[in-house]
Amino acid sequence: MGEGMDFSYGEDLEAIRQTAREVAEREVAPFAAAFDREERFPEAPMRRFAELGFLGMLIPEEHGGMNLGNLALAVVLEEINRACASTGVTLSVHNSLLGSPIVRFGNEEQKRRYLPRVASGEILGAYALTEPNAGSDAGAMRTRAERRGDRFVLNGTKIWITSGDRAGLVVVYAKTDPAAPRGKGISAFLVEPSFRGFRAGKKESKTGIRGSSTVELLFEDCEVPEANLLGTLHEGFKIAMDTLDGGRIGIGAQAVGIGRACLEASIKYAKERVQFGQPIANFQAIQFKVADMGTELDAARLLVHRAAWLRDRGARCTREAAMAKSFASRACNRAADEAVQIHGGAGYTTEFPVERYLRDARITEIYEGVTDIQRIVIARALLQ
Ligand code: CAA
Repeated sequence: MGEGMDFSYGEDLEAIRQTAREVAEREVAPFAAAFDREERFPEAPMRRFAELGFLGMLIPEEHGGMNLGNLALAVVLEEINRACASTGVTLSVHNSLLGSPIVRFGNEEQKRRYLPRVASGEILGAYALTEPNAGSDAGAMRTRAERRGDRFVLNGTKIWITSGDRAGLVVVYAKTDPAAPRGKGISAFLVEPSFRGFRAGKKESKTGIRGSSTVELLFEDCEVPEANLLGTLHEGFKIAMDTLDGGRIGIGAQAVGIGRACLEASIKYAKERVQFGQPIANFQAIQFKVADMGTELDAARLLVHRAAWLRDRGARCTREAAMAKSFASRACNRAADEAVQIHGGAGYTTEFPVERYLRDARITEIYEGVTDIQRIVIARALLQ
């Protein structure tokens, strides 16, 4: 018989998980409610992550990163999101949507110039794909990039960009061949906020993940040196999609983390809350909810880890990442809904964290591709 499957973490992964858990509990969780209430960016946690190497998890060591891979990143993200989803998404976007595409598609010069600063946290990352008329239909973008001599001139508007006003580098997608059909003739650019014609606009006030910053980005004759074209000209949509394969694993891990927080808070409350003369955990109505939450979250974690494992082996994981994200985000929302129900009236107040979990959970079914887009991606792969 060959080597069997191994569901244990192994020493290295367990050590990373332990570190992430300790930092999350001591340095993130105590501030999560305030980040949410005050729409405050998680600056201190992000600085701490830089010290721990969590900002360069997908970056090779020769470029200043830890090269720990997507599985380790998923494990870290679950722990951080269990404490604070605003902090979690900021960390996820930085690693998966900015660091990763430079590693996968950048040339040597770009890697040398940017990756050490991304890994050290000097540069925070953002990813600008969505536009007012191109959300789920990302290929319908209208932002233009016109070549003028040794530079490209960008014009257009991107919206809902995580960390857009905080970023030191943004991967921006723009149409370089306006005559090409949707999804074609698009290129990716590494844009620094100091480039002329770049401006962060309106900041969104959101239902959840309120500590993360979500802004509009405006490009008004924004001048980008030719050297900052990422990957091949006109092939940017594939970079956007490949990047999202990784990002969706991160959001799946986020969903598992929020879901776990819901489950743990529910168990604690159900053991303490006495009604009809006994802790409500004694009632099957509560036990069944807890059983389903636990089962679904374990299944979600396995899907997330499978997709991460595939990506770490260099395999295409489009279908698996979409499955992980769609399943985990729905399991997370069911867990958040049940957590509030188990808490009853208490769950509907800010005295308990589950009302925040419910608000935070909601976005996992929306960003990096809404659930129905994930189902389209999965169905296409299955029916191919
Ligand atoms: N990897 C590599 N290439 C890929 C790919 C992948 N995962 N997926 C598609 N491609 C390629 C295809 O092979 C195709 O190439 P060819 O033309 O050479 O065959 C090309 O890309 C176009 O693909 P499709 O034909 O599938 O394009 P489509 O327009 O029909 O569908 C979609 C694409 C799946 C609907 C896509 O638009 C999509 O994922 N939409 C959702 C957008 C999204 O997720 N937005 C998230 C915003 S980012 C965000 O939320 C970040 C944040 O701040 C938190």
